[in-house]
Amino acid sequence: MLEDIKTLLDEISSYSIQNEEELEEYRLEFLSRNGKVQTMFKQLGQVPKEERAAVGKAMNEAKNTAQTIFDEAKAALEKQVTRNLSAKDDLSLTPPEMPLGSLHPLTQTLNEMKQIFYRLGFTIAHGPEIEDDFHNFTALNFPPNHPARDEQDTFFIRKSDDPKVDDLVLRTHTSPVQIRLMENQKPPIRSIMPGRVYRNEAVSPKSYFLFHQVEALYVDENVSVADLKETLITFVKLMFGSDVKYRLRPGFFPFTEPSLEMDIWWDQGGNSKGKWLEILGAGMVDPNVFDAAGIDSEKYTGFAWGMGVERIAILRHEIDDIRTFYDNDIRFLEQFT
Ligand code: PHE
Repeated sequence: MLEDIKTLLDEISSYSIQNEEELEEYRLEFLSRNGKVQTMFKQLGQVPKEERAAVGKAMNEAKNTAQTIFDEAKAALEKQVTRNLSAKDDLSLTPPEMPLGSLHPLTQTLNEMKQIFYRLGFTIAHGPEIEDDFHNFTALNFPPNHPARDEQDTFFIRKSDDPKVDDLVLRTHTSPVQIRLMENQKPPIRSIMPGRVYRNEAVSPKSYFLFHQVEALYVDENVSVADLKETLITFVKLMFGSDVKYRLRPGFFPFTEPSLEMDIWWDQGGNSKGKWLEILGAGMVDPNVFDAAGIDSEKYTGFAWGMGVERIAILRHEIDDIRTFYDNDIRFLEQFT
């Protein structure tokens, strides 16, 4: 056995290590879990008892030698690398700039909004972008011939003549997610529902066929208009600062009663006059909507709103053309790093 150890030691010390690859080969050959040093230790059990102490000692010495050779070779190679570098390269040279990516301004705005609603105790829910007519319109109390159901405004995926088969649309707002939430969850409900919505509109600086909304739904016993107002005002103050100028106006939606809309004063700076920009529609959930979604409208009340993410990003960043969000022009996106 002692003879074998000696042979191994010879092999170790005559191994050539000139570069990184050879260093790694050496490590695999001798020091790895299945390497020769470990294999040697496995034989210790077969050594007669009286020799075991001496053989064990020799094995340990061999192991230490193998490790020392590795450490020294490694240090030497590292030194060499540094030396080669300093000979060739000017380390004081400023490195070329690495362009850093950034989150899209809409994602950034959405993240800020989510943070605020987490703080206010809301959870997040999602629904499908392809909706059936029931969730997008009927359950939300739209009468059968409401203009929003017109092809002028809505992208249809499937139009059916069979009254038993529902039409399919690209959702025109995030409100259908309210219905899906109430179908699956009993009050109290406090959720926001962010997502994309689609409308068949002519593209202009002010409108696009795709945009983002954040829906909110709060359902419990004794929820009042005062709760709605308080929540909206808290939100805009956290989003735009406590000196934000806002106003609430009466509005109309089939699925809320009463309904209101909220505007934010957009101070466009410089010589241009400011103007009011609508950011959301809101209201108290209509009892018909509760009935359609299977919530007891005698027991519960609630508020809901849907706000435009683009509108809020426009206010945050003073952007004057909604299409820039979708052009993917790097010169625009770079401004939001
Ligand atoms: N869904 C409405 C829209 O898209 C907004 C809204 C949501 C209004 C919830 C009231 C309550 O315009």
